[in-house]
Amino acid sequence: MVIKTMKMSMSHCLLLVLVAGAQADWASTTVANRTAGQTLEEAVKKRLEAQSHTIEHFHMEDIHSFYWWDSKIEEDQEVRATIDSEVPFATLMEAIAAEHPYDLPMIVSSALPPEGEAAAADAPAVELKYVMGMALVNGTTAEIAQGLAKSIVEVKYAACAQVEKHGDSGNDFYITLKTLSASKEQVVVDFGGLEFEWMPIRANKAYEKWLEDNVIIRSHAGEL
Ligand SMILES: *[C@@H]1O[C@H](CO)[C@@H](O)[C@H](O)[C@H]1NC(C)=O
Ligand SMILES: *[C@@H]1O[C@H](CO)[C@@H](O)[C@H](O)[C@H]1NC(C)=O
Repeated sequence: MVIKTMKMSMSHCLLLVLVAGAQADWASTTVANRTAGQTLEEAVKKRLEAQSHTIEHFHMEDIHSFYWWDSKIEEDQEVRATIDSEVPFATLMEAIAAEHPYDLPMIVSSALPPEGEAAAADAPAVELKYVMGMALVNGTTAEIAQGLAKSIVEVKYAACAQVEKHGDSGNDFYITLKTLSASKEQVVVDFGGLEFEWMPIRANKAYEKWLEDNVIIRSHAGEL
C-alpha cells in the first residue's frame, strides 16, 4: 500500500479497522438485557482467563430489534454487547457461544474487505458473503426509525435490523442490518433514502445459516 500523504484518508482508516478486525478481535452479540450482558461478560472473561487471554474492552447499547423467527417477525427490546479481546475471532466466538443464554445467538465480527492486501499471507481466505449495513436516520422519531427497520425485515432484504439512539437529541437513530452481500443492491434501490455503509462480516455458522434462510434476493430490485 502506498500512502502518498501523511494524512490518512477516511477510507484508509476504515480499511485499517477492517484489517485489524480480522486478526485481533471484537465480537458483538445480543442478549435480553444489561444484567444478562454482565453475566455473559463475566463468564466469557473467566473462560478466556483460564486460557491466559484477556478481555480488553466491553460495552453495551440498548437496541430495538426486528428479526424473523418461526415464520414471523419478532420485535424485541434487547442489548447489544461487544467484547474486544486480543484473541482471534474463532476463540472469542467459541467462548461466547459456550456461555450464551440463547439457542441461536448472533455472534458477529468484521471480515476482510476484498482489497485487504494487508492481511497476513497465511490468513485463511475470507468469504464476503455476509454484510452489516449501518445508516443514520436524522431528525425523526423512534416510531419512524423502527418502522423503516421493520419494513426492511418484512420484505426479507435483511434477516435482522436493530435501531439504536444516536447522540442525546432523541431524534437521531442508527439502523443496523445483518444480511447477505447479494442483498445490498435491493436495499439501496428500494430504500434509497437511507445511506447505508456496508461492512463485510463473519459470524458463528448457525447464525450465517440463519441469515441465508431469512434473506430473499429478488430477481430484480424495484419489484416491490
Ligand atoms: C434479563 O434477562 C433474563 C433472561 O436472559 C431474565 O431472566 C431476567 O429476568 C431479565 N432481567 C430483567 C431485570 O429484566
Ligand atoms: C446527523 O446528526 C449528527 C449529529 O447527531 C450529525 O453529526 C450528522 O452530520 C447529521 N447527518 C445528517 C445527514 O444530517
